[in-house]
Amino acid sequence: MSGAPPGPGALGGLGFLRAAAAGKLLEFFIDLVRRYGDIASFTLGPQRIVVVNDPALVEEILVTRQRAFVRDTGAQLLRELVGEGLLTTDDPTHLERRRIMQPAFHRARVAHYGEIVVGETERIVRAWRPGTRIDIGVEMARLTLAAVGAALFGTDLREGATEIAGVLASVTERGGALGGLLAFAGPLLAPIRAAFPNRASLLFPRERARLEAIVAPLVARERAAGDGDDLLSLMLAARDEGGRGLDDAAIRNEICMLVLAGHETTANALTWTFALLAQHRDIEAKLHAEIDAACGTRSPSVDDLARMPYVAHVFDETLRLYPPAPAFARRPITEIELGGYRISKGASVFVSPFITQRDPRYFEEPLAFVPERWAHPTQPKFAFFPFGGGSKMCIGEPFARMEALLAIATIARQFSMQRTDDRPLEIAARGLLKPARPVMLAAVAR
Ligand code: HEM
Repeated sequence: MSGAPPGPGALGGLGFLRAAAAGKLLEFFIDLVRRYGDIASFTLGPQRIVVVNDPALVEEILVTRQRAFVRDTGAQLLRELVGEGLLTTDDPTHLERRRIMQPAFHRARVAHYGEIVVGETERIVRAWRPGTRIDIGVEMARLTLAAVGAALFGTDLREGATEIAGVLASVTERGGALGGLLAFAGPLLAPIRAAFPNRASLLFPRERARLEAIVAPLVARERAAGDGDDLLSLMLAARDEGGRGLDDAAIRNEICMLVLAGHETTANALTWTFALLAQHRDIEAKLHAEIDAACGTRSPSVDDLARMPYVAHVFDETLRLYPPAPAFARRPITEIELGGYRISKGASVFVSPFITQRDPRYFEEPLAFVPERWAHPTQPKFAFFPFGGGSKMCIGEPFARMEALLAIATIARQFSMQRTDDRPLEIAARGLLKPARPVMLAAVAR
């Protein structure tokens, strides 16, 4: 085993901070692996940061050797905001939570929310005046919030999700402004947190209180009403093998976390989808033909999805080029060997769907938007991993797919999306992968 993975050392740390402040971290990571290879590293103060771009090593990190790693510091920051939950903990708490929550997110269970998604999509597009310019990012965020809100709390209380998202957005905007400096906050936080074990949140006390004030009445109402069929009711009724369920504090955390993890990701994926369709009229025409043949003049349903493979190919190709979670990290709990190099305990090890999914070794013409490639995929395992992998893989994937495919079919059945300018699509990566500026499209009635 040789030393640390190759790279520019402390100079890389300066470049990292500059790139983080400019929202150009992905470009920085791409340049790093291009220069130094599929496992490369640099240092940021005492912290070593490793970037991995080899599908076999990605599988080791996320799946086969996942017990050797814990979440990175971002999770500690997130824990200050949404508390201990599925998205912010490691084993044993993570495993316990995942066992309790998993049944509510099984594919068959999630299909149940298809009608809600179609209903919410139709409600949103009803307001689109044919031909007027719409900010597709804003519209898709409204759609996914309404859908996740209705699935969580029922249609009449869907606005609860919008209120929660409003509080979370105020914090993430502040966090984004601090850029790469937050990379230091995680390690500093651990000893400070140990000194104040009973404080719900050191960094965001006001926001935590506001979140609790929004969620508590929703939980109380649901407990009193008993047997609803929304996700919150399922979570309240869920038990592990020992008969243990989630208490109110755990439920509150999981709800905030589901709103956080569940709406902007899918909203960004849908925004990129329609932006790409507007640029590729031949692909949009093929999509329209498939949807028309499957649905005719009625609204799409979950049962139609099996007859619309091209809709799924368009969505997968969008996730390949623009994965909403473009990079995420783990920390080894002891010094380990990875790809022949020594990785120190506590190093940040990044894997990146964005980088690997644009690698010409795994995808021919990697920058081209070609949904047809998904009819016969040829890439190795973990060359495409927009939802992660292993025990921390996205629990919401079945929900996100069902939601996105039905939203695409519902919208594309009624509208053609057309560009309003010729500027190329540019990305901004501050946490999630977003368009650098609003994508304005004309929704033309078909
Ligand atoms: C296109 C949409 C989505 C994408 C690309 C996406 C991506 C991801 C990724 C990459 C992870 C793993 C992160 C890691 O390993 O550190 C993750 C975890 C998670 N996602 Fe998603 N997600 C999406 C939609 C959703 C939705 C709709 C929900 C909920 C309704 C959701 C809830 C979660 C949760 C709870 C976790 C943590 C799971 C765990 O650690 O056990 N996501 N997501």
